[in-house]
Amino acid sequence: MQPLRQYLATNNIEPSLITLIDVLAIACKDIAFRLQQGAMSGILGSAGEENVQGETQKKLDVISNDLLKNYLLASGVVKALASEEEETIVSGNEAGSYLVCFDPLDGSSNIDINSMVGTIFSIFSAAEGSAVNEKSFLQPGRQQLAAGYVLYGPSVMLVLTTGDGVQMYTLDQRIGEFVLTNDHVVIPEETKEFAVNMSNQRFWAEPKQRYVEDLLAGSEGPRAKNFNMRWMAAMVADVHRILCRGGIFTYPWDSRDPDKAGKLRLMYEANPMGFLVEQAGGKAYTDKMPILDIEPEHIHQRVPVFLGAANEVTTCVEYHQSS
Ligand code: F6P
Ligand code: MN
Repeated sequence: MQPLRQYLATNNIEPSLITLIDVLAIACKDIAFRLQQGAMSGILGSAGEENVQGETQKKLDVISNDLLKNYLLASGVVKALASEEEETIVSGNEAGSYLVCFDPLDGSSNIDINSMVGTIFSIFSAAEGSAVNEKSFLQPGRQQLAAGYVLYGPSVMLVLTTGDGVQMYTLDQRIGEFVLTNDHVVIPEETKEFAVNMSNQRFWAEPKQRYVEDLLAGSEGPRAKNFNMRWMAAMVADVHRILCRGGIFTYPWDSRDPDKAGKLRLMYEANPMGFLVEQAGGKAYTDKMPILDIEPEHIHQRVPVFLGAANEVTTCVEYHQSS
């Protein structure tokens, strides 16, 4: 079982990118320690503020954001970062080679019930010489150099792609290192498991209603098979299940907030997860196009998300296109 840095070095990853991934891993180990201390570390509950997305921030959202920011800015290789919890981009080292986007604590409503949460990140290269601004970040997801997440569950796991498949690492608590535990992650093309927040059903558009209705009709319906449903209320945990045993995850547009294209954020959630899913042989779409081909318009942009088993995502998107 190879430690993270050794695996990356033997696979010819640029040394400065290894430094960056290693720094992200260190910050996440720090977050994992605080999560494990739970109520004893005084980190549970609300920080009493709203973030730029208009959501109540948990204390641990703020702590995780600050930890990641401080570690990344101290690394020397980061030119600028964008976080779901920061209104504007934060500049780092002018000579740094990388731009980093992150969701410091995905699924944070799970913190207070001791359930799964995670940190999601996405890495782009920074143009040399030119000054950095928000526009520097508006690159399609297909240009990501690396993306991944750390899942804080019964084990702490790092799941990573550098564009050459998806690898899973598990934190070995005895030595404090992420070690490679799965170097060949593949999402089966077919599935009988879907993830969606069913309580929003009445707010969905007609194609999404029809798609889920047909899933629920099971072996007697047009899909002619019985489906199971799971919803973890943390995208990172749902995507992890899909990378481990398959399935489809959907967070569509809905009419509760009709002006928003969806709930999930392109730069901090959809792009990094889309890159991982494609690298594992799955598909990641909006209702119209591959997520990784979207030309971002602003850093906090939201998108509808349909990702996972290739054939199931194709079927789901066909429902949307045929209407
Ligand atoms: O970050 C947004 C998020 O917490 C995702 O992690 C998760 O999939 C989703 O929102 C949960 O949404 P809902 O509150 O509708 O269950
Ligand atoms: Mn999130």
